[in-house]
This record gives sequence, C-alpha cells and structure tokens, in this order.
Amino acid sequence: MRIDVVTLFPEMFGVVRDLGVTGRAHAQGRWALHAWNPRDFTSDPHRTVDDRPYGGGPGMVMMAAPLEAAVNAAQAARAAQGLGPAPVALLAPVGKRYDQAGAEALAASDGLILICGRYEGVDQRFIERCVTHEISLGDFVLSGGEIAALAVIDAAVRLLPGVLNDGDSALQDSFNDTLSGLLDSPHYTRPEVYEGAPVPAPLLSGHHANISRWRRERSLALTVARRPELIESARAQGWLSLADERFLAELAGEPLPPLPAKRRRGSKPKAS
Ligand SMILES: C[S@@+](CC[C@H](N)C(=O)[O-])C[C@H]1O[C@@H](n2cnc3c(N)ncnc32)[C@H](O)[C@@H]1O
Repeated sequence: MRIDVVTLFPEMFGVVRDLGVTGRAHAQGRWALHAWNPRDFTSDPHRTVDDRPYGGGPGMVMMAAPLEAAVNAAQAARAAQGLGPAPVALLAPVGKRYDQAGAEALAASDGLILICGRYEGVDQRFIERCVTHEISLGDFVLSGGEIAALAVIDAAVRLLPGVLNDGDSALQDSFNDTLSGLLDSPHYTRPEVYEGAPVPAPLLSGHHANISRWRRERSLALTVARRPELIESARAQGWLSLADERFLAELAGEPLPPLPAKRRRGSKPKAS
C-alpha cells in the first residue's frame, strides 16, 4: 500500500513512518509513505499557498493551484511505479466519519492520496476538480488535517497482513467482525492484585470456555452501556448467540429467551 500525503508539515508524518508498529512495517516495506509540500509547487518568491477569502471574513484559504500540482505529482509518481491513479481524500470536518470499515477498505486497497487542510480550509474549486472523498475524524475541529491523516493511516496500516506481531490481535479489537462488531472486553496483566483490586476470577481459572464466556459478557455489557446501536447491528447480522441473548435479557431484567428443547437420548422427533 502506498500513501501520499499533501501537507504543509511533512515532518509530522515521522510519527507513523518511523515509530512503533507502523514504523516497523514501513521499514519492512509493507507500506510506503510519500509527503508532498504544496509550497514546493509555487512559483512566487514567498512560496505562497494561501490567500484571503473572497467575500471577506476571518482567516486564510489554501489556494487550489499548489494543491492540484502536488496531487498531480503524487499521481505521476504512482504511475511511474506501475500503480493506477489513487482516490484523493481531503481531511475535513464536513466529510464522512472514518470508521473501522473505512480502515479495512483502505488496508485492502493499493493506497490513497490524503490532503491535509489548514487555516479556514481549501478552495472549493480544488475539491470539485481533484477530491474523490472527504473524511472526518469526528465532530470537532482540528487546526489542520495532519493529525486526522495520521489516525487514518495508523488504523489502516495495522490491518495489513503481517504488521501486528500476534496475527490475531486485530481480530480481538473493538468493532471487528470476529468480535461481532462489539466493544472489546477489559484487559488485565500482572500483578494479580493491584492496590487491593484483584484480577477477575474467571481470567485466573485456566478454563478456556469460562474465560471466553466472561470476555464475551463483558463485551456485551460494555457495548449495551456505551454503544447500544452496535448491539442492534450485531443482532441484525445474526451475530448474537442464544447465550448472548440470554445474557442481554438478564442484564435488562427481561424474561430469558428459552433454551432449545433437548431431545432425550433414543427419543424420536415428533411427527408433525
Ligand atoms: C481549522 S480547520 C477548518 C475547519 C473548517 N473551517 C470547518 O469549520 O469545517 C483546518 C483543517 O483541519 C482539518 N480538520 C479539522 N477538523 C477535522 C476533522 N474533524 N476531521 C478531519 N479533518 C479535520 C481539515 O483539513 C481542515 O481543512
């Protein structure tokens, strides 16, 4: 996967390129990062990339031409590598909220060009000409798109094959299909008692089925409390077992769904 970032602050991307899990994966060549500074695509002595907004008002607006030239350079560099044109995503509070499905889609692709806005934003004509997606990190306003782009990249790179040490650990994370899209359960490590608080007994039992059940029930309880809509989508997908439904009913103080009738050994099913 090749990620190109158009940014006035290329040095900020050392965080994902050089450090931690994503840094190791970059060194191993599992993904590549290229940063393009719009200032390098200006022709005036001041290397101007912004100007005052038409119609007045506070702040500055990023000019279309340096951004478009940077995108063209990134696409040309991809083509020189034998890659097709990449989608171009602008980080913007007005965009579609980035989520785990978005990270999975990016990890399954051959890359993306990310545009980091600054100031009041970017000239709309650049968006109309060059941008294929607008991505938001959430309902808040950052000073620039860089921190949002770092989050987009990190969430996708850790999903690439071979990036995480324990291949299963992404599968156990919140929002993963393997966890039925629920929130992750709490985690504990040594010591067994910390400041008087013990590790929950099922985790010390060594009984794998009980440990799995305990984790599942903690996931269900946390998701009910914090993100009840995720329970509804798991149910709609058919991802909740009868044991899950019985636990949820118990949690809500509702009558428990009946267990399936057990056939006695040797008895024949009733003819209907
Ligand atoms: C100060 S913000 C501009 C906010 C813009 N005037 C608005 O109200 O929608 C500067 C840049 O930060 C980035 N940014 C800010 N908040 C963001 C968010 N929640 N998600 C993604 N990018 C964001 C965008 O690239 C934006 O162009």
